[in-house]
Order: sequence, then C-alpha cells, then structure tokens
Amino acid sequence: MHSFGHRANAVATFAVTILAAMCFAASFSDNFNSATPTASVKILNINWFQKEANGNDEVSMTLNISADLSSLFTWNTKQVFVFVAAEYETAQNALNQVSLWDGIIPAKEHAKFLIHTTNKYRFIDQGSNLKGKDFNLTMHWHIMPKTGKMFADKIVMTGYRLPEQYR
Ligand SMILES: *[C@@H]1O[C@H](CO)[C@@H](O)[C@H](O)[C@H]1NC(C)=O
Ligand SMILES: *[C@@H]1O[C@H](CO)[C@@H](O)[C@H](O)[C@H]1NC(C)=O
Repeated sequence: MHSFGHRANAVATFAVTILAAMCFAASFSDNFNSATPTASVKILNINWFQKEANGNDEVSMTLNISADLSSLFTWNTKQVFVFVAAEYETAQNALNQVSLWDGIIPAKEHAKFLIHTTNKYRFIDQGSNLKGKDFNLTMHWHIMPKTGKMFADKIVMTGYRLPEQYR
C-alpha cells in the first residue's frame, strides 16, 4: 500500500518534470524560428472625411490589406491576433494610435490573406488634427503560444497622408 502510493507519486512527479521540460523546449525552440512576415496596406478610397458636430475629425476609408503571416506559425502557435492601426503625431500626443481593423488567425492555412474592407473601427481624432495629416499604417500581431510567453511585433508602413480638405 505504502509503496504503491509512493511509486504513483514518483511517476506523477516524473511526468510533471517531463512536461515542464517539453514546455520549456517548445517555447525555447520558437526562438530559433526566423519568421519573415510580409504585409501591405493600400488605401483604395477615402469614402468621406468630415468634422463631426462635436469638433472631432473622422475619416472613412477603403483598405486593401494583404499579408502573409504564415511564417509566424510553428507547432507551438495556438493563434495569432492581428490588427491594423493608423499612427500619427499631434501637438498633444507623440503617438496617436487608432485601430482600423483586426482579426484572429486560427491556423497557418489562414495566415495568407487579402482583405478588401472599409475601416471596421471608426477613425476619429480627438480634435481637428486630420487635415493633410501624415500618418503610418502598422500591422501588429500578437502570437498566442500553446505554451510559453506571448510574443508581439509589427510591420510599419510609412508615407500615407490624409486629404487637405473635408469631402
Ligand atoms: C490589393 O493588394 C494586392 C496585393 O498588393 C494586389 O494584388 C491587389 O491587386 C490589390 N487589389 C486592389 C483592388 O487594389
Ligand atoms: C512613421 O514611422 C517612422 C518609422 O518608424 C517614424 O520615424 C515616423 O515618425 C512615423 N511617422 C508618424 C507620422 O508617426
């Protein structure tokens, strides 16, 4: 009796040790995966651009988002959360970040995509700073692993500018 309990405990401890070692190896081996994600976002159209009654600028645009994030996937990847944001500077803030679109990529087979969409979330400035504003579009991703720590990175696309006039 006594020795059976002892042995079961030893087996359980051994199993937990193996599991911990495998988890460590899994997250460690991820570091050797040299990912080469690509992304491109084009503004196909400015649908409208106006000042709201409350004085805040808002713009609606149609985007062509294409990306190949398949290299982010390893056997340790559960899913990847991805979002596209407009980033710009104003006198008040060094970085204003407005999320325009997001999605969850559940598997490597879905990691290469082309999406033609109007901005899913409203592009509103807290003020009237958007006329002729230079901005960047960034694609951010958060890799949710099966085990180990989450990893985030982004691709910055520069050189976008909003119209000089409301329309
Ligand atoms: C969207 O972007 C992709 C990749 O850059 C390109 O092949 C496609 O022609 C674009 N679509 C439109 C409607 O511009
Ligand atoms: C756009 O990104 C570049 C490179 O990261 C950065 O130097 C620049 O300040 C950014 N521009 C804006 C308007 O945020």
